[in-house]
Amino acid sequence: MNTEEKKPKSRRELVRTMGQSGNYWYAMEESKNLKKGKSLEVIFWKSPIALYRGEDGEVRAIENRCPHRQLRLTSGIVQGDEITCQYHGWTFDGCGKCTGISHELGKGKAKDSLPNIKVNSYPVQEKYGLIWVFPGDPALSETVKIPAIPQLDQEEPWEFIPIDVKLDGHYSMMLENVCDFNHAFLHRKFKPFTDPHLLGTRREGDTIWIDYETDMSQSSAVKTAGEKKGAGLENMTLWYQYPYQGSNTADKYLHWLFMTPIDENHTRCFFVFLLGPLEIPFINKPVPKFLRKTVIALANKFYIIPLLGEDTYIINEEMLGQERHPDIQHLEFNPIVGEFQKMSIEKWEEYVHTEALRKKKQKDDKERYVFTGAGLTKKELHDYNTMLEEKEEAGL
Ligand code: FES
Ligand SMILES: [Fe+2]
Repeated sequence: MNTEEKKPKSRRELVRTMGQSGNYWYAMEESKNLKKGKSLEVIFWKSPIALYRGEDGEVRAIENRCPHRQLRLTSGIVQGDEITCQYHGWTFDGCGKCTGISHELGKGKAKDSLPNIKVNSYPVQEKYGLIWVFPGDPALSETVKIPAIPQLDQEEPWEFIPIDVKLDGHYSMMLENVCDFNHAFLHRKFKPFTDPHLLGTRREGDTIWIDYETDMSQSSAVKTAGEKKGAGLENMTLWYQYPYQGSNTADKYLHWLFMTPIDENHTRCFFVFLLGPLEIPFINKPVPKFLRKTVIALANKFYIIPLLGEDTYIINEEMLGQERHPDIQHLEFNPIVGEFQKMSIEKWEEYVHTEALRKKKQKDDKERYVFTGAGLTKKELHDYNTMLEEKEEAGL
């Protein structure tokens, strides 16, 4: 954290200044939006990343910055499995290495002795219709997994259509919104949960579980297409499995929320709703397999997207409140909110800590390039390393 900035006075103020740990896989784009031979920019906590799909169909993720004059590589062109900057034609591979220069410096004999130029690169993979990037320490990307979604991993996966929400708000606000059912009033038109009662919450490692008792049969969607009009849906379990969020109702209706923090005021959210038993209205017969995708598209369009629209609207309002009254404490009565903030702060601090150590090690090893995870400023890591050195000198 920048120590020269005004110090946050509360846990809530502090968490709103922080990103999420880069040492996890983040859903950054829908696979279908990145065509062969094309590139696009995504941002992980203020760090621009160029995603491009080579002509071989593979996606690569590298820093979106040409080291020559700092132009966006995504304004360039993809050729083969490399990307070339639009200005002077420097070419980079998926590891971020400069493999070609279009002018004299890279022509003729010079071609075989190109200067050692490199930008940061990030592990990337595609799963569940999404492009996932590991913005932190690449060495950890092998052991840290994308969350397993059994309903999508089985032989006959459930159909789903991801919903892409561009939120004008800090990621923690979305988290707090989704898991705090005290905002049933906001959704009085759609009634996704009625008369919620928090049964309990517990933390296990980096996961916080929340159990609610609530009446879901009042929901307009459940009444229309839910199994037995929602009878038997009284309990919902939600989780904040860092850095992901989800819910499960009777193993029949589930959702996952994958967020990518862009900055203090913007977050990219991908919702995956898994709708189990669906019935045809009035005749109450199961929706046949061939129609399920259409019904899911209709459910997204007429129920889930408008419902999420209420949440994004209200988070905008919350942002405005925060901007106007930054120093006034909230009157927060839901214990989940504080628990979430605590874990989010812990995980961000852990990220700054491990990346500061990684940076120090690369410097000590006199590496040609020192690369650290996306989302961290040089100053943040420098301050942290200075603090570690001072502590060491003082024998603490
Ligand atoms: S600015 Fe990219 S090649 Fe010159
Ligand atoms: Fe909501």
